[in-house]
Amino acid sequence: MTDVKKLFIKTYGCQMNVYDSERMAEAMGADGYVLTETAEDADMVLLNTCHIREKASEKLYSDLGRLKPLKQAKPGMKIGVAGCVAQAEGDEILRRMPVVDLVVGPQAYHRLPEMARAGRQTVDTEFPAEMKFDLLPERKAARGPTAFLTVQEGCDKFCAFCVVPYTRGAEVSRPVDRILSEARDLVARGVRELTLLGQNVNAYHGVGPGGDYTLGRLLREMAGIEGLERLRYTTSHPNDMDDDLIAAHGDLPQLMPYLHLPVQSGSDRILKAMNRKHTAEQYLRLIERIRAARPDILLSSDFIVAFPGETDADHQATLDLVRAVGFGAAFTFKYSARPGTPAAEKPELPAEVGDARLYELQAWITQQQRAAQEAMVGREVGVLYEKPGRLPGQMVGKSDHLHAVHVDDPSGKVGELVRVRILSSATNSLAGQRLR
Ligand code: SAH
Ligand code: SF4
Ligand code: F3S
Repeated sequence: MTDVKKLFIKTYGCQMNVYDSERMAEAMGADGYVLTETAEDADMVLLNTCHIREKASEKLYSDLGRLKPLKQAKPGMKIGVAGCVAQAEGDEILRRMPVVDLVVGPQAYHRLPEMARAGRQTVDTEFPAEMKFDLLPERKAARGPTAFLTVQEGCDKFCAFCVVPYTRGAEVSRPVDRILSEARDLVARGVRELTLLGQNVNAYHGVGPGGDYTLGRLLREMAGIEGLERLRYTTSHPNDMDDDLIAAHGDLPQLMPYLHLPVQSGSDRILKAMNRKHTAEQYLRLIERIRAARPDILLSSDFIVAFPGETDADHQATLDLVRAVGFGAAFTFKYSARPGTPAAEKPELPAEVGDARLYELQAWITQQQRAAQEAMVGREVGVLYEKPGRLPGQMVGKSDHLHAVHVDDPSGKVGELVRVRILSSATNSLAGQRLR
């Protein structure tokens, strides 16, 4: 640990990649690397990639193309590829892009420092028995009052369109004591809100003191951590929302009234073809139960349009479901065929069909999102200040319902959780006044 070297990390994809990038930065920190903001002045560039849709994976190759001249000008520079493309394509990346020095899959991040010291190589396909987080150094960084904490990784669901079970492997849950100690450590560093992460976070089943823990039990335990004011979790599968987890939404004031619960489609025929193992009706009944436990909860979802075989009637069923639920937000995607998944064997719909359906669905979602924001006007909510706003004396934070809120508060401090009266709604944020 003599000379300081600079590391630039670019993160694509989901929140789990964001969390992983932080952990990799810390692992490299122990080897003398400090983070830098640009690739130009880096000794090592790490691209933490996403494989979920074709566009996401293609970004890797266009970024590598841009890095090539940089490396030619600075031959000592190392370029690493991590994340889900690394897992899916492995050695192929080295063959296709000689500019790359190392390829490391999501389960091998603890080996990154050692790989960076060595020559050109790949470590990807092994899914070790012990979870990487427990092989990585303790977390040191906590920038700001909110943080992610991975509690579960991998997926056993095998939705017909999805690469995640192949890139992240089978479901693994971290033991409760590790999660609690990481959470306490983060709180001691100023974190007030934790978002528990997992590809299938509500499938969590970890071992802890006194037996097995479900996500509901884990949340109840975490709600007892002094100074931890807010809890969230993502992403959930509808089939893993058990009674205790639903009840926790009513019981725990720390558990915020916002739930991301992907449904993908409103057509039973398409849900079946997607291997989602639930119907639209079952999803609607589930939403009713969640709303009974926490009436003011805001729901968000993911949708895929133009899945192979989707008819206009199927698409209409999705719009019906959207109208029946009333979402606070949602992500909408056009189906993208992913190599190695069962759905990729089926003929695709014409691109224009997907574009039109995406547009129509998006219009409904936007309308619902605006309505949900408008409904907040006049209400009193909690806001956790995350940073100063662009205007002098202004603070910005997230409400309980995960809306961005601007507050005029010259004496406000980052990390304060304050009560705010919402005064108005703009396109993507709310404005409010602090109550004293
Ligand atoms: N584990 C999470 C996230 C999966 S990826 C979950 O189960 O919800 C996030 C979203 O990307 C998915 O919910 C799905 O809507 C979308 N997605 C996944 N694979 C896709 C594909 N092949 N084409 C288009 N969208 C996809
Ligand atoms: Fe992918 Fe389905 Fe698993 Fe989510 S539940 S990660 S969409 S396979
Ligand atoms: Fe992408 Fe992998 Fe996350 S494919 S969405 S980075 S789990």
